[in-house]
Amino acid sequence: MTLSLFEDAALYQAQREELCPGATVLRGFAAPNEAAIFEALGYITAQAPFRHLITPGGFRMSVAMTNCGSYGWVSDLTGYRYDATDPESGKPWPGMPDVFMNLAQAAAASGGFDDFEPDVCLINRYEAGARLSLHQDKNERGFSAPIVSVSLGIPAVFLWGGSQRKDKPVRIPLAHGDVMVWGGPARLRYHGILPVKEGCHPLSGAHRINLTFRKAV
Ligand code: SIN
Ligand code: FE2
Repeated sequence: MTLSLFEDAALYQAQREELCPGATVLRGFAAPNEAAIFEALGYITAQAPFRHLITPGGFRMSVAMTNCGSYGWVSDLTGYRYDATDPESGKPWPGMPDVFMNLAQAAAASGGFDDFEPDVCLINRYEAGARLSLHQDKNERGFSAPIVSVSLGIPAVFLWGGSQRKDKPVRIPLAHGDVMVWGGPARLRYHGILPVKEGCHPLSGAHRINLTFRKAV
């Protein structure tokens, strides 16, 4: 018997952790699709290479980024925004591959959010020492859709904060294949990534790759 891609993925849901109402960690959920995901990443980054964006405050982000989908998240001295074109090439972002869309929708459903229609996949690449400080995802037009965040490659520690910046975050170790889903009452929780430790992974080398799916528009 041959299992379809996502029946197979469903078998990997043995370990799921609910962090709070609306937020779930799906351990290893993306692992069955790792080969197809990395193949798609190769096509995307050939068209829209990773780059270090500049924050509105003038700092170079330690995380390198690119996007696929109808929109991409970008930052420059004028602010943060979603843009339908890659400012480096002037062309539309590469389309969202089916394997990404199917994974995001299956994970969202598993986290309790049916009918997720992401229009952006922000792709983050962390090298040793790269970090993402505590922030809320709030550049989107609405907050009714969840966030689906896929961890690949070398591990990292995710900071899961509260609804206010001052709330002390809990530390969640994330490994290759782990997927976090947060929405509903958890949608605007603060979160971030501690500086990534040196490591090596067969598929990503010295990097951690994160795919963040959102509905921007
Ligand atoms: C993000 O918050 O945009 C990315 C989080 C992560 O890299 O896991
Ligand atoms: Fe975020």
